[in-house]
Amino acid sequence: MSDRTLWEQAQEAAAVVRSRCAVIPRIGIVLGSGLGPLAERISEPIIIPYDQLPHMPLSTVAGHSGRLLAGRLAGQDVLMMQGRVHYYEGYSPQQITLPIRMMQQLGVRVVIITNSAGGINKAFHTGDLMLITDHINFVGLAGAHPLRGPNDDRLGERFPDMSRAYDVELLELARRVGRQQGIRFREGVYAIVSGPSFETPAEIRMLRALGADAVGMSTVPEVVVARHGGIRVLGISLISNETVDSFEAAAQPSHAEVLEAGQASLPRLESLIEGVLQQLILN
Ligand code: HPA
Repeated sequence: MSDRTLWEQAQEAAAVVRSRCAVIPRIGIVLGSGLGPLAERISEPIIIPYDQLPHMPLSTVAGHSGRLLAGRLAGQDVLMMQGRVHYYEGYSPQQITLPIRMMQQLGVRVVIITNSAGGINKAFHTGDLMLITDHINFVGLAGAHPLRGPNDDRLGERFPDMSRAYDVELLELARRVGRQQGIRFREGVYAIVSGPSFETPAEIRMLRALGADAVGMSTVPEVVVARHGGIRVLGISLISNETVDSFEAAAQPSHAEVLEAGQASLPRLESLIEGVLQQLILN
């Protein structure tokens, strides 16, 4: 653990980004498992490996390469996190959200957060894209919450509102882009579980009964911290597998399957993100 406060850690990481980039983007993008190739769409990026950013937790999972890219994408300056760390890797909720705190210190106003998730809604299929409309923070509700501990008022308020965690205008913009591009989206509630084990059939049925449409092991801590810091959020899940809800089901989710589905759906996710960027007006 660092002896620095969260605010200081984020400042020190942000200072490295400031020293390397002539323009500091106001749009952030976080890429989920298997979605790393999206980074190749950035023209002439400045690349900063996470191990050059002080305090940045380093990923231990295949499919997460761990570097920050700054550059132009679809007419906007963006700051892209290629690779993220997860709670199950052993990091604290505060550590896994440091990239979002760093973005906050840099003045990022909007963050597009992506993930690969298991489909729980029976209508969902592998390869679908789901706009996240709301979440269930199982990990946080159980106490592993990124805002647990003394509140630093410079970062945000003690009891931040989560009634509109996913920005209504950004959702509307994404829907419009989908209509324009002829991409059909799902929409729904994302539930975070700790992982790293996949869920049992009984757990999947429980999550479905509680209103979850998709399940994954990331995103929610980042969203909570972004909202705490006043950053607007667009959340997108790529449904990388259908979850197993009975002993009769044939499929068994695997990390390889998650990465493979990412490959197949990347072009649609790319179009969606670039369409949103083209039409996004920062206020
Ligand atoms: N469960 C939890 N997390 C996931 C899954 C899943 O089925 N697929 C991708 N991330």
